[in-house]
Amino acid sequence: MKALVAPDYGISRLTVADRPVPSPGPGQLLCRVEAAALNPFDLRLVAGALRGRVPAHFPFVIGMDVAGTVEAVGDGVTSFAAGDPVIAVTRPDEGTIAEYALVDEGPAVCLRPDGLDAIRGAALPESGLTALDLLRAVDGGVTSPLAWSRHPGLGPVGSEAAGAGSKEEHLRVSAGRAGWEASGGTKEDHYRASSGRAPLHGRRLLVIGATGGIGQFIVQLAADLGAWVIATATPDDVRYVRVLGASSVIDYTAGDVPGAALRIAPDGVDLAVDLVDAGPDLRPVARAVRPGGRIVSPLDGPADFGHGVTGRYIGTFQARPGELAHLAARVANGRLSVEVGACYPLAEAPRAVVDYATEHIRGKIVIRI
Ligand SMILES: NC(=O)c1ccc[n+]([C@@H]2O[C@H](COP(=O)([O-])OP(=O)(O)OC[C@H]3O[C@@H](n4cnc5c(N)ncnc54)[C@H](OP(=O)(O)O)[C@@H]3O)[C@@H](O)[C@H]2O)c1
Repeated sequence: MKALVAPDYGISRLTVADRPVPSPGPGQLLCRVEAAALNPFDLRLVAGALRGRVPAHFPFVIGMDVAGTVEAVGDGVTSFAAGDPVIAVTRPDEGTIAEYALVDEGPAVCLRPDGLDAIRGAALPESGLTALDLLRAVDGGVTSPLAWSRHPGLGPVGSEAAGAGSKEEHLRVSAGRAGWEASGGTKEDHYRASSGRAPLHGRRLLVIGATGGIGQFIVQLAADLGAWVIATATPDDVRYVRVLGASSVIDYTAGDVPGAALRIAPDGVDLAVDLVDAGPDLRPVARAVRPGGRIVSPLDGPADFGHGVTGRYIGTFQARPGELAHLAARVANGRLSVEVGACYPLAEAPRAVVDYATEHIRGKIVIRI
């Protein structure tokens, strides 16, 4: 099969080459790939930035996000069969930018619903699930944001995936199994959430890196949950982030993002999700956060920023049962959009990676197989 192969460290050394079609082991699906998306992790792994922390067994196929059709299943697979359309995020050493890819059965794979094409389907898994993990961290890391209420006093929105429409239906359905199963949390998560918890409703949320893979989902999900979202963007992307749901936009190219945030929210924001800065570089952001507020990042940073501002870092994101299917359903029914900034054929995948590393690309880059 043709695949995007890293023969050694170095983005410029990536090449499209022949590799053997992998065989599905126990608990694995072999997918015929239709589309695969790039993530910053792919760049870091190939560039050698993770050397010593994440092993790279050269030559290897890069890519973790995938949309495709199940070709064969390994022993013990019970939820999928040949012919099923799926989307998934794999382990880093599996490789998805190829004609075939292996996927582990589990919470990081789901059926691709009608209404979600393979290109947007490939762009969803890693960024969408990480966005959910970050929002979960905003509220202490327990309940699923998909089960949070949009309004104080109302039940959770998890029933949406079960087809409920009115407030009454919503409450009725959310009282049964369908609500908590569809919300992707545990039963306990659901009942805690269904007591009217609305962790983002009315909160001022600063999103730094709002136009990227994860940021696009954070802005949409948080705005949908009633947050007042302040998003960073270049002047060209102002309209885009407003359409996603941002109430205010900061041009980060003008510098001093915390100062600009304080001009918009003089008492400070309640929460900041920073998708750009890490470690000590997160400290300046704390200036924009009110006492007792929280900074959340997918990278690392201080636990305590002073004046009662705390940090939360998710480490490697965790796929939770039902959440990927729920996100896919939202995209299919038009409640969540997926921005694909550029799409390349497999033959041009090496150029796609270079462009990803060097150019401004809104949302995700997808490779069409
Ligand atoms: N912990 C985990 O499991 C996990 C999972 C996924 C990702 N991550 C990490 O999360 C981070 C974000 O991932 P992503 O997929 O969203 O990345 P991405 O798609 O590359 O998006 C990054 C965004 O940040 C913007 N940006 C760059 N410099 C900025 C600045 N100074 N101020 C404001 N915005 C700026 C970029 O916009 P322009 O194009 O305009 O520059 C881009 O929209 C990455 O570091 C990634 O490695 C962690």
